[in-house]
Amino acid sequence: MNILLLGSGGREHAFAWKIAQSKLLTKLFIAPGNPGTSTFGENISLNPLDFEAVKQFVSSHSVSIVVVGPEEPLVKGISDAFAASDAHRSVTVIGPNAAGAQLEGSKDFSKAFMLRHNIPTARYQSFTPATLDEGKAFLHTMEAPYVLKASGLAAGKGVVIPETLEEAEQELEEMLGGKFGDAGNVVVIEEFLKGVECSVFVLTDGESAFLLPEAKDHKRIGEGNTGLNTGGMGAFSPVPFCDEVFMEKVKSRIIDPTLQGLKAEGIIYKGFIFIGLMSVNGEPFVIEYNCRMGDPETEVVLPRLENDLVELFEAVGNGTLYYHQPIISAQHAATVVVVSGGYPGDYPKGFPISGLDRVEGELVFHAGTKENEGVLLTNGGRVLAFTSVGESRESAIARSYKSINEICYEGIYYRKDIGKVDW
Ligand code: AMP
Ligand code: GLY
Repeated sequence: MNILLLGSGGREHAFAWKIAQSKLLTKLFIAPGNPGTSTFGENISLNPLDFEAVKQFVSSHSVSIVVVGPEEPLVKGISDAFAASDAHRSVTVIGPNAAGAQLEGSKDFSKAFMLRHNIPTARYQSFTPATLDEGKAFLHTMEAPYVLKASGLAAGKGVVIPETLEEAEQELEEMLGGKFGDAGNVVVIEEFLKGVECSVFVLTDGESAFLLPEAKDHKRIGEGNTGLNTGGMGAFSPVPFCDEVFMEKVKSRIIDPTLQGLKAEGIIYKGFIFIGLMSVNGEPFVIEYNCRMGDPETEVVLPRLENDLVELFEAVGNGTLYYHQPIISAQHAATVVVVSGGYPGDYPKGFPISGLDRVEGELVFHAGTKENEGVLLTNGGRVLAFTSVGESRESAIARSYKSINEICYEGIYYRKDIGKVDW
């Protein structure tokens, strides 16, 4: 069968790599893709947000599965656009409809959803510009540090955690005043949870949950988890504290009620659910939901998944996911992301990348690169994700760093402490 994959980052390169291994695949198209994805399929210049163009391409190229990498097309209703068209209803879209994508697109929705379905999460309230004063009063009832979240999509930048009450009040004013544009029209203020974070990933056909390997990412730009938040500077899987006891709690208290809650609210959810968790003394709390896979988490999750991914996607379409059991490698996977100097702030791009030919045989996923007259250039904040698999986390990470030593471009930066953790 023919498959269309939407997106252009490291996550999509990892998806392309995994999809290309399927015996069910005839042809893979990636829109728009990147120089890495073109090894596994044909990159096509198509905007994932232009739903009419995507639908037309799907018809003219007999595509039967569309895999949506990033959240924006989902939140904007790409699945609904397919479901609303007689000619496209039979196409399997991996990714929820707009109602389901609210789990990520509206923190106000997702917090209320968790409350409705008794899913453990931080205590919270939501505020709008009209209730700014109530918001400030609510802050006075909380203890430092304060967690403020723009409810809408804010490109991963919408969470601010001020240390003092004065800063928190100021931040609330700025957020409700438009600091994050429309995403901050509603602001969620929630209790700070102290613990260790991890992420779990579920693929669902709306009925049953197929649990993927868990992962932990490193969000901050600086070593020792300092500095600004980024999209993710590295990740690893498995995560030691996600043992059987913890994962059983995650399943019974979080995954099952999430799926049951979606069903009870009439939301037929077909796709990935990424659940960001905080373990507080061994008890899991939901920090956030995403309606898609993580980046760079996908780069460590998929190398440990031994199932045929396209078979799973087909099962999502048919509603037969129940018949598939996860086959997970006992190996450890790690990925180290190399970024442009200046990221996550402004950064220059277009620098030639040399030395990649010396790391052949390793998994190097392209995140922000482009090719110009045969030369590979930096083209984004996150440039490449060096992924390795090994008998232990340490051995996997050591291989990633060895590969990184072979490459060079102006302004190259990466964290040297990926995989080192604080528990
Ligand atoms: P989010 O975008 O919701 O994942 O939040 C970004 C980061 O902020 C998370 O990865 C956590 O490190 C931190 N964070 C968010 N909510 C909380 C909370 N309630 N307590 C402590 N840390 C939080
Ligand atoms: N690495 C975090 C995310 O994909 O949202």
